[in-house]
Amino acid sequence: MSREAGGGRRRAADESGTDPVERGERPARDERPAERVRSGERPMRADPVVATVNLVKIYQNGGVPVPAVRGVDLRVERGEFVAIMGPSGSGKSTLVHMLGGLDPRTSGEIWLDGKRADTLGESAWALLRRKKIGFVFQFFNLVANMTVADNVELPALLAGASPREARERRERLLDALGLTGRADAAPAQLAGGEQQRVALARALANRPSLLLADEPTGNLDSRNTRDVLKLLGEVHRDGQTIIMVTHDARVASLADRVVSLLDGQIVDDGAVAAPRRRPKGTAGDVVELRG
Ligand SMILES: Nc1ncnc2c1ncn2[C@@H]1O[C@H](COP(=O)(O)OP(=O)(O)OP(=O)(O)O)[C@@H](O)[C@H]1O
Ligand SMILES: [Mg+2]
Repeated sequence: MSREAGGGRRRAADESGTDPVERGERPARDERPAERVRSGERPMRADPVVATVNLVKIYQNGGVPVPAVRGVDLRVERGEFVAIMGPSGSGKSTLVHMLGGLDPRTSGEIWLDGKRADTLGESAWALLRRKKIGFVFQFFNLVANMTVADNVELPALLAGASPREARERRERLLDALGLTGRADAAPAQLAGGEQQRVALARALANRPSLLLADEPTGNLDSRNTRDVLKLLGEVHRDGQTIIMVTHDARVASLADRVVSLLDGQIVDDGAVAAPRRRPKGTAGDVVELRG
């Protein structure tokens, strides 16, 4: 069972309904990320898509504290493609779940597009996700009684796209992922790899400011992995910001930057080495060569 289904782990709904995000306001100056305040820097003109400050998650397991994320400072600029790697249990899923508001943080700050997000209530997070975040989980959560086409269109419609825009975007995404012939199928009629690709199409349907993906190729064979990576490369070239958890170094080589976690802390954060770097415009070729 996927963890994101556990509604009990989400924070209680914010009753005030007056979150800054809902009002569309920017936070006051003294609410800017602490790192900037500490360093005395003037805020950059473009806010990072993601900034975390000393982000901590400690689960309680039958009264025993389980530290999963231990003081993560992560900054992801607009248009960056960041791969998160690390051994099992190092906190990768916990980190991306917190970035999407699916798991409340224990302490620290989360900023999305320059706005404080960790203090939001559940309803404000839901709104933020609908507008700004696409999520692909290791276990895809498709709506069982809707067709593939409707599953992919729904987020765009919810976010206010016109039916025509939603349909055009859906057609383009399903085509890119080789799923056009499956548009009228129900999710249960699809193979696991097909469901995974539909989940990716759905996450991108909205043109999210941030795509969060937790092992999006985890269940795919090499051909399907190639399709998914090719699409990720394409949307990245179009400016999509991506944070992707992966165990696979070949998958990570498509990213601009690899952040390595160990025991809930960042132990390495660097650009992908030059010879492995993807020259602009050839993501498909690189994937072909390495697939
Ligand atoms: N709901 C939970 N309750 C208690 N502990 C949890 C919970 N979820 C995760 N943990 C613990 O937090 C730590 C980090 O888990 P997490 O799932 O983030 O790791 P991961 O890096 O994604 O691992 P994997 O590569 O296996 O997916 C682990 O020690 C895990 O056992
Ligand atoms: Mg995980």
